[in-house]
Amino acid sequence: MQDILERLEKQRELARLGGGQKRIDAQHKKGKLTARERIELLLDDGTFEEWDMFVEHRCTDFGMQDNKIPGDGVVTGYGMINGRLVFVFSQDFTVFGGALSETHAEKICKVMDQAMKVGAPVIGLNDSGGARIQEGVASLGGYADVFQKNVLASGVVPQISMIMGPCAGGAVYSPAMTDFIFMVKDSSYMFVTGPEVVKTVTHEEVTAEELGGAMTHTTRSGVADMAFDNDVEALMMLRRLYNYLPLNNREKAPLRTTSDPSDRADLSLDTLVPENPNKPYDMKELIAKTVDDGDFFELQPDYAKNILIGFARMAGQTVGIVANQPLVLAGCLDIKSSIKAARFVRFCDAFNIPVLTFVDVPGFMPGTSQEYGGIIKHGAKLLYAYAEATVPKITIITRKAYGGAYDVMASKHLRGDVNLAWPQAEIAVMGAKGAVEIIFREDKNDPAKLAAREAEYKARFANPFVAGARGFIDDVILPHETRKRICRSLTMLQNKQLENPWRKHGNIPL
Ligand code: COA
Repeated sequence: MQDILERLEKQRELARLGGGQKRIDAQHKKGKLTARERIELLLDDGTFEEWDMFVEHRCTDFGMQDNKIPGDGVVTGYGMINGRLVFVFSQDFTVFGGALSETHAEKICKVMDQAMKVGAPVIGLNDSGGARIQEGVASLGGYADVFQKNVLASGVVPQISMIMGPCAGGAVYSPAMTDFIFMVKDSSYMFVTGPEVVKTVTHEEVTAEELGGAMTHTTRSGVADMAFDNDVEALMMLRRLYNYLPLNNREKAPLRTTSDPSDRADLSLDTLVPENPNKPYDMKELIAKTVDDGDFFELQPDYAKNILIGFARMAGQTVGIVANQPLVLAGCLDIKSSIKAARFVRFCDAFNIPVLTFVDVPGFMPGTSQEYGGIIKHGAKLLYAYAEATVPKITIITRKAYGGAYDVMASKHLRGDVNLAWPQAEIAVMGAKGAVEIIFREDKNDPAKLAAREAEYKARFANPFVAGARGFIDDVILPHETRKRICRSLTMLQNKQLENPWRKHGNIPL
């Protein structure tokens, strides 16, 4: 017995030391924490239950039979974040560069299977040199096994990836299939092929940071949702995000009590929208003044800024917010913003999170680059996502809701549950000026006549009453009542039941 206990302690010690003190020091020198330090920060104190600490690889090539480290480069298990269950895997760069072996993959698959069985999210902390080169195809098989689990878990339990070091080649596709990707600035990168291969094939010279660093993926490619300055900030923000999410697709998100009254009226909202319809205003101000305690957890804040997405709470209940941002491209919908919002709406729908949409949209972005880029297909993604969603949908039109974009932005016609408009709302095919120039083309050389026609068109259509007369909006509300009306609507929708017809799966335009 004593022998076994001593051996156990020795094995544990070996596993905790990973690739050794020298490599741990090198990790720290790069400003990175170790796999275990990261888990400690991420989880509530003392809640981590580690699994498979004694797992070793089975490779016998290239002298690997004499080079084994218990745990095999990934720390796995479960624990709590603010008292709520979560499964975690954290790749240990000090052990073979965190490279993924067959057994390393098996450990990840094991926690994913268990997470799905008990209905709890999976968080992956990625820091890996990719496939374990000494293992060859066994390691590639391991990746594919993880990918398959990612797909089966998609929409069943939330999956979150944090990229905290290298993530290259096939390794990128597991995070790519998770719901959210966060990155740490300057120490993480993601790319399918690295700078060396890029140089050989396309003759482009690019650094790893430029090709796939946190700034690249949060501003240019849209692959990652947020970038953080260091490991500690990243893990703290991950804990914050976690608080908004339900544990699985059969649960509702947790309620958080708030002292912010649900009928709080913010009179400054009454003057938020400028008199001049061509003048922008900041939609974030409306969001901050409407949600509980002004707390908006924005996702992808630096990508496709013409649409805002993120989580907030209303009377304690998590909501997903989608909002046109008039400050950027006048709030037009384009390819990037449609894709950004569509995926978010689908996440909310999969996990029972009501969607709150603020609309001020002058239409889809015109131009050859949009048309050649496939705006028809990509805009359809957002339309499809809203139309398919069965969660409570509340829509507030603050100003413009023009053309096809009016339909797309959670309109009544797409089974919007509560559709409200501010008095300044203009729900029309297009703006008055453009409309008059088309339908009264014969008056184009008579500015006085055109102006009169424009005024006439405005009076007829640039208001919420035409849509109101048809029941396309349920009510016209004063801006300062917005919070109260949303909270009441959410209470009314609490037990909403709606199912789509049976099908294997839909065929969203991809
Ligand atoms: N398989 C096995 N071991 C690997 C590995 C892999 N894919 N990637 C890194 N390692 C090992 C290194 O041999 C090194 O071992 P050592 O500490 O015993 O010397 C250790 O991990 C750290 O790697 P190192 O290259 O010193 O770290 P770095 O920070 O300078 O560079 C990488 C990191 C990821 C850029 C670099 O290791 C690399 O290019 N790895 C290979 C990537 C790859 O081609 N993967 C396979 C295709 S997916």
